[in-house]
Amino acid sequence: MDFKQKVVQLVATQVDLPTEKIEQLIERPKNAKLGDYAFPAFSLAKIQHQNPAIIAKNIADNLESPEFENIQAVGPYVNFAIKHDQLVTATLQEVLQKQAHYGDQELGKGNVPIDMSSPNIAKPMSMGHLRSTVIGNSIAQTLEKVGYTPIKINYLGDYGTQFGKLIAAYKHWGDEEAVKQDPITNLFHYYVRFHQEAETNPELDAEGRDWFKKLENGDPEAIKLWKWFREVSLEDFKRIYKELGVSFDSYNGEAFFNDKMQPVIDELKQKNLLHESRGAQVVDMGPDQNPAIIVKSDGTSIYLTRDLAAAMWRMEHYHFVKMLYVVGAEQAQHFVELKAVLKKMGYDWSDEIHYVPFGLITQNGKKLSTRKGNVVFLDKVLKDAVALAHEQIQAKNPDLKNQAEVAHDVGVGAVVFHDLKNDRMDNFDFDLEEVVRFEGDTGPYVQYTNARAQSILRKADQQVDLNASLALNDDAAFAVAKDLADFPAIIARSAEQFEPSIIAKYALSLAKKFNKYYAKVKILTADEQLNARLGLVTATSVVLTESLRLLGVNAPKEM
Ligand code: ARG
Repeated sequence: MDFKQKVVQLVATQVDLPTEKIEQLIERPKNAKLGDYAFPAFSLAKIQHQNPAIIAKNIADNLESPEFENIQAVGPYVNFAIKHDQLVTATLQEVLQKQAHYGDQELGKGNVPIDMSSPNIAKPMSMGHLRSTVIGNSIAQTLEKVGYTPIKINYLGDYGTQFGKLIAAYKHWGDEEAVKQDPITNLFHYYVRFHQEAETNPELDAEGRDWFKKLENGDPEAIKLWKWFREVSLEDFKRIYKELGVSFDSYNGEAFFNDKMQPVIDELKQKNLLHESRGAQVVDMGPDQNPAIIVKSDGTSIYLTRDLAAAMWRMEHYHFVKMLYVVGAEQAQHFVELKAVLKKMGYDWSDEIHYVPFGLITQNGKKLSTRKGNVVFLDKVLKDAVALAHEQIQAKNPDLKNQAEVAHDVGVGAVVFHDLKNDRMDNFDFDLEEVVRFEGDTGPYVQYTNARAQSILRKADQQVDLNASLALNDDAAFAVAKDLADFPAIIARSAEQFEPSIIAKYALSLAKKFNKYYAKVKILTADEQLNARLGLVTATSVVLTESLRLLGVNAPKEM
């Protein structure tokens, strides 16, 4: 049962405010002893020119409802205290009936392409791409839970002048066997060397330009090498995606839109939006704004033009109701331009485009940069995390079967969870030891709590009877049940704000409350409340597991 809605309904019988307004005003009292929900009378005081405490008292005096222990005015607030056993019973009933479907809802429907991950071929995938991958994946899972059909698109950076340079570099120093063995490391190495040597040897840049021209003109050798670089790089990326358990519905990258840009340029011309500025073709962005460049002075098109073509193609193919771009905050201006140009072209669906930015990951306080060679190799990060998890599992639970599998779930899960628990716009530092700890605000802590719940259930070896009493009265159980009751609203909020951290923080809170309960109460004592306690343990495990799933993290039953 949704007790907050019940409170809204009750208040609505007494005050002359729209229900949405009432819902916005409802708070959680800071002191839980005062009750579970509070309605503040301040805004009414302004309208009715009356002391808010008197208004609160009048409202409270008129209200009564079987779900509530008491409804009382305290100063300017009307406080609602839910009957503990009512909330526990209603919540456990619902979770245990719906299981993993608990929290499913229909906030909307239709296709939602999510432009995510999108690393660049022949370069190591960065921490930024990792963030985009895991944030995008979690948003996809969450949108699916609230009714939408997410379409995960990997808009690979697989085209551009840098491929001319890479081909030139490969022609000089390339070793086919080495590339086959370890594609990205070697291709990236050629690329870095190219830049170093080009500083003293300008010939190289000219060669790079030549190869790019050949590539554009369909020269078979250039095409063959480019295709090969793309293919082997993608294989490398897919290894990381497999580790993370993330899949994509489309790998249509930048190159896919090569032949789809001219029509966009023509359309811009025909709609009188293009004009010349210092040799380039641009769209005006209004006073005090730099114009958006569509065709550069050397005649080549750019990032923006390609994204325009991609957005229009996706509209045509997916008829999306929303489209998301999960891309680092440093590209904000690009997405402002993308939306603005589409709007000027008359496409009102540009309003449904949401740029979902995120902050930087630093290491020891320093920014990571591919260009300076200051890169983190993600597969190494994941491997190290798994090894660290394995060590801890061996220390804690040496007899555990399928240790390798569990270590994988815990190590990779730790990295993913760490990435998602911060508000996505926050910058944060990456310290592996910290990330994989079993205590504190970590993924392993949530997984461990769930495994603990599962272990209790294994020991109990008894089915929860939904027809027997599920009522519990103690504060510790009530605190857990209240969190469980919040889950659907948490999912809705996370889906609306494209903010996985809301779910991650929620999972931490639930895990903490459950551990408090575990410390306080003897769960397996054979008395008349055993069934209800096992119901609480089961429901907690259901919701922790589902929370982790929405974040893209596995929940081992034993660890
Ligand atoms: N490949 C780009 C990069 O690594 C990210 C692409 C983001 N998506 C987009 N539609 N522009 O910076």
